[in-house]
Amino acid sequence: MKPYYITTAIDYTNAAPHIGHAYEKVLADVMARFQRLSGREVYFLTGVDQHGQKVQKSAEKAGVTPQEFVDGITQHFTSAWETLGIKFDGWAATTDNRHKRVVQAMLQKLHDNGQLYKKAHKGHYSVRQEQFLTDKERSSDGNFGPEWGEVIELEEENWYFRLSDHVEWLKGYIRSHPDFIYPPHRANDVLNALEGKATDLCISRPVERLNWGIPLPFDPRFVNYVWFDALTNYISFGGYLADECGNEGLPKFDAIWPADAQVIGKDILVPPHAIYWMTMLHALGFTDEQMPRLIVHGWWNISGAKISKSLGNVIDPKVLAQTFTADGLRFYLVRDIATGYDSDFSEERILMAYNKELGGGLGNLLNRTLKMANNYRQGKISPGSFDDEACQNVRQVVADAEAAYPVRMNGWEIHLGIEEAMKIVTACNAFIDLTQPFKLAKDEAQAARLDAVLYHLAEALTHVSVLLSPVMPRACAEIQKQLGWLQPEAFRLGDLRWGLLADGHQLGQGTPVFPRVEIAA
Ligand code: ME8
Ligand code: MG
Repeated sequence: MKPYYITTAIDYTNAAPHIGHAYEKVLADVMARFQRLSGREVYFLTGVDQHGQKVQKSAEKAGVTPQEFVDGITQHFTSAWETLGIKFDGWAATTDNRHKRVVQAMLQKLHDNGQLYKKAHKGHYSVRQEQFLTDKERSSDGNFGPEWGEVIELEEENWYFRLSDHVEWLKGYIRSHPDFIYPPHRANDVLNALEGKATDLCISRPVERLNWGIPLPFDPRFVNYVWFDALTNYISFGGYLADECGNEGLPKFDAIWPADAQVIGKDILVPPHAIYWMTMLHALGFTDEQMPRLIVHGWWNISGAKISKSLGNVIDPKVLAQTFTADGLRFYLVRDIATGYDSDFSEERILMAYNKELGGGLGNLLNRTLKMANNYRQGKISPGSFDDEACQNVRQVVADAEAAYPVRMNGWEIHLGIEEAMKIVTACNAFIDLTQPFKLAKDEAQAARLDAVLYHLAEALTHVSVLLSPVMPRACAEIQKQLGWLQPEAFRLGDLRWGLLADGHQLGQGTPVFPRVEIAA
């Protein structure tokens, strides 16, 4: 089977990352790790979008060159992703020369195929916002509002992409490929946007207006429009035209393309990904079988409001990870949202997820199990021959969770995959309350029963640690170590069947994996 090629949006380097950016990278990282756990080879690409007007302006303001500016911001992203354990295989930075060469080769190809043309456009231009205005920008009184500053009549030549040539194909493609976009209801947003007369896309900016971009190879008085540049990252860093461009250190394009999952936020589906990107690929000669799949996630808001620098509600993911551990934050970010829908960030909710579900549920189960096994059996586990309904029930819960988990995860319902694993935790904690091993330990006649209880707990915990490892890789590795699994990443999903612990398996010592967090009210 071809490697699972997963990408995320590349983040703008005009400001440091917030929890919205972190969520997207965690979501993709969880899926990449889940696919690896399933035995599939994976290529995970993420990175940064470094060109464009916003960067040029921010750099000017900061009094540094655009490259210095983006290098500085990029470090905030790489360090945040390192903190959060985002394990990517490729890093897409659009100022990378390999990318610039592919963008130019791609533009040349489109030009040679007659897909680009130059034309003059005359219209209203906002000097402050540095953009042409259309009737959509007029306020209800028919004028351009004060937010646009001085508006002048301007005539400017630019290069255009014959996007409209591909719209009929795109509509047909979307209608005949219900799996193209997840969740599927988003396809309607795209089809609605494609109604009416199709227009072509301006893909250049004159260098006098914007110079922080990739020059058009056939007309260097222009740089490429930032979205055209940025979207190309998915193929340039996948090895597209690598030989022609002399690019090294990239995957073999034919081996990994198409992308199995392009993970993006709902704001950049229409028009950039569903319309610009798809028509670009079609114009480059990609076939229907070579089209990527889009996974569209919702947004994290704060008290119902958009996260934004101007609202001053930006939360630094590294600060949260300091309080709740990186895995605690990862857990919260994929547990408290349904993929495709929005969620509201709340300190109370993350505190509860961490202290109650992780500390009180999973962590406490591990601690109790290790403590009892070490106290009563010097940590040595033996299945023995005792069995009863309570034991059978634990095995059934594990089997059911393991059947449901991969279906949920493959379907991007990460929160429901987590729920399946947590059902085992809940069942095991109830199993302890029911069987009362501390009482069994006092009665020599109950020795076989105690063995069975301890065995079921340690075995079930091993299974949980595998199921939750894509979400909490470090914590689950630590749990496995404490359970006496000394080889890292000892299990894949396919290894999970009852009876992983051999007779005489030696457990380790327990130290809290999710130490309690106290926050002053
Ligand atoms: O759009 N919750 O960059 P970006 C969830 N450079 N996701 C969020 C979010 C939030 N509050 N805020 C942003 C860009 N995102 C372009 C992409 S791709 C070729 C170029 C998501 O830094 C957003 O939806 O504004 C997007 O997927 C990603 O973070 C980067 O956003
Ligand atoms: Mg954005």
